[in-house]
Amino acid sequence: MDLFIVTGGSKGLGEQICLKALDQGHQVLNLSRSRPTFKSSKFKHVTADFSRGLATIKKIETLLENLDLASFKHIHLINNAALINPVGSLADLDMADMNTHLVTNLISPVLLSQVCSRLATEEKKPLTIFNIGSGAAFRPIAGWSMYCSSKAGLKMFTENTALDLQTSKNKKIKIYHFSPGVLDTQMQQTIRGFKKKDFPEVANFKKLKTDQQLRSPSDVAAMVVGFCLAPQKFKNQSSLISVQDLEAKGL
Ligand SMILES: NC(=O)c1ccc[n+]([C@@H]2O[C@H](COP(=O)([O-])OP(=O)(O)OC[C@H]3O[C@@H](n4cnc5c(N)ncnc54)[C@H](OP(=O)(O)O)[C@@H]3O)[C@@H](O)[C@H]2O)c1
Repeated sequence: MDLFIVTGGSKGLGEQICLKALDQGHQVLNLSRSRPTFKSSKFKHVTADFSRGLATIKKIETLLENLDLASFKHIHLINNAALINPVGSLADLDMADMNTHLVTNLISPVLLSQVCSRLATEEKKPLTIFNIGSGAAFRPIAGWSMYCSSKAGLKMFTENTALDLQTSKNKKIKIYHFSPGVLDTQMQQTIRGFKKKDFPEVANFKKLKTDQQLRSPSDVAAMVVGFCLAPQKFKNQSSLISVQDLEAKGL
């Protein structure tokens, strides 16, 4: 049995990843502010607010140190929790909101990756760090300076860590940045509610919903869990993967 550590498993894609991992018989630990509605003997929820950065990660570190990791075959850290706000031009953004965003979307997943890497190395367990990124990591989007920057930071952290692991010939830890496509979740609902002055592309995102172009979080979660459990089927050389890549492989 593997252990899936999922951040932001209370709703959206994270919730579906928890459910798919449980369906496959694995143990799941969810870290989010609110508790998911589902229950399972193999599921544990721990309340965690990633906008508090180091203080929250220290709490999780203690929790993980007290877990019997030796009983798991493989550990998967799914860094999924994120937010889209604040949006708009730099001068109009609220500094506290900017700080919340950057700590939640970038600093916390980076610190949690360090904790899991250290513990997995000490326990001699294979670890997959699966960072849920975004196409926004690859291109600027008007009004989204925070989201594009935080996701680009997570992407570069992924690529650099992958390079470090390759250089040190560490085969026990794998790290990926995953672009999941546009998903039918609460985050998209928030995006459709933005004012045009803050987010000029808002009409395109409303159209994606009316044209039923949004992906199902359940379908994408099945691909994420399928990939984590059998990455060898995918035979990819890169740490950057997308939903289109996984679809092409029939995952
Ligand atoms: N939706 C899309 O179209 C889309 C596209 C590309 C990439 N993504 C990425 O996919 C991932 C999942 O997005 P989603 O659409 O499923 O989002 P969502 O429906 O808004 O869910 C976000 C999750 O993150 C958690 N979260 C947010 N702030 C948190 C905090 N301070 N501390 C702890 N947990 C926090 C939330 O839990 P609580 O509120 O309970 O804390 C929730 O479970 C994100 O990384 C997102 O950037 C989404």
